[in-house]
Amino acid sequence: MLQTNDCLSELRDLLGPAGCMEGEDLPFRNRTDWSFLPPTTPLAVLRPTTTEEVVQIMRQCHANQVTVTPQGGMTGLCGGARPTDGGVALSLERLTGIEELDPVGMTMTVRAGTPLETVQKAAAEVGLFFPLDLGARGSCAIGGNLSTNAGGNRVIRYGMTRDLVLGIEAVLPDGTLLTMLNKMIKNNAGYDLKQLFLGSEGTLGVITRVVLRLFPEPGCSSAALCIVPDYETVLSVLAITRKRLGPLLSAFEVMWADYWHQATDRAGVRAPVGMGDGSHAILIEMQGLDAEIDGARFDALLEYLLEEGHVLDGAVAQSLGDIAAFWATRDAAAEFANPAVIGPHISFDIGLPVARMDEFAQEAKAKLLDQLSFHSVFYGHVGDGNLHVVAWKPNADPQPLDEASRIVYGIVGAMHGTVSAEHGIGTLKKPYLPLSRSPAEIALMRQLKQALDPKGLLNPAKIFD
Ligand code: LAC
Ligand code: ZN
Repeated sequence: MLQTNDCLSELRDLLGPAGCMEGEDLPFRNRTDWSFLPPTTPLAVLRPTTTEEVVQIMRQCHANQVTVTPQGGMTGLCGGARPTDGGVALSLERLTGIEELDPVGMTMTVRAGTPLETVQKAAAEVGLFFPLDLGARGSCAIGGNLSTNAGGNRVIRYGMTRDLVLGIEAVLPDGTLLTMLNKMIKNNAGYDLKQLFLGSEGTLGVITRVVLRLFPEPGCSSAALCIVPDYETVLSVLAITRKRLGPLLSAFEVMWADYWHQATDRAGVRAPVGMGDGSHAILIEMQGLDAEIDGARFDALLEYLLEEGHVLDGAVAQSLGDIAAFWATRDAAAEFANPAVIGPHISFDIGLPVARMDEFAQEAKAKLLDQLSFHSVFYGHVGDGNLHVVAWKPNADPQPLDEASRIVYGIVGAMHGTVSAEHGIGTLKKPYLPLSRSPAEIALMRQLKQALDPKGLLNPAKIFD
């Protein structure tokens, strides 16, 4: 305790009152994330404004055996940024700003606490495009996106966050600074060390700065919502769309009818097209080069789908406002926690063979209802093999997480899927990691953790024990 007190008083001196919040000043938002896990009570929330301060914090905490949990926008859904009681939270919320934008090399160098939406807007201001996009864009931080290797809506075209990163700067648990702000697409000079920190949920190092890869701003965008009669048709529409749009296809999001009902009837999002007797709504987005040529290509695709009877009903966006309205049906998932919609629920993020997603949904829905009286709705990034399940037991507080998880992950395991497609493991999914990773893989993860953090002080007890 003496060590901890010494450490804290050093950190108070280093960071000043705005940089070290304790006791009654502990902000609630730093005590848990969006996972519904109960808040913890860290000793302090540290809010550095420079990389050098992060280095000093890590040195101090390392010397004094204090655990450190790195934090971004706190929008994670698995508890990865939830601090440990008695440790410190290291929030990067004041380490923000764009340091450099290189329109020729098409890169942007950004501090880790910068919100994703700020990055997107800064790229757009110079006619470039940063493709990572997800519902929490206004609140999540780019450093958190990297730490969790976030996925989101445009993975089908641009890949996961990992594919959008050229370089990073990270601070190791002992305070060693690794400045690896590479800007080249090709760089095979030895191990690609940045990969250790991408998707490892802040367990191996604290990301402080990042070099992102930018793309040309799309010359035009189109979107359509299609209602189809069954999942087999979802798969044929995916195949036809891939063939006809090729690399221009930028999103293929699928909403099961049960999800659509929640989004449009309960969350109050306007339905641009009626579900009728359909089973699924598909949101297809194209980012093209030329409105005349590619817009015509997109319209022809939709005509073909309607004429050939693949699609029961459809709507094609006529304006940017329409495109936003179509996406609102998909972004409605963020409203589900509102008690007027669903309220407390469990949100699953799983990966499955694309062909078996509907089989999974039917089996999971039936088992959740029959065995646990749970309701459930399904939606996801079907083109990426990534499904989300929102499941809830009405009036249960807290929600019976373990029982529902056993059912959902049991089916995932049997179908050789993954218990985390894009949200990470955090603490919530730790018991289920062995369903998706072999004992040899988990042993190697432990060895890496041991090599980089032998004292076990950085974001302890996350991903695996
Ligand atoms: C989504 C989040 C939950 O796709 O990943 O809505
Ligand atoms: Zn998602």
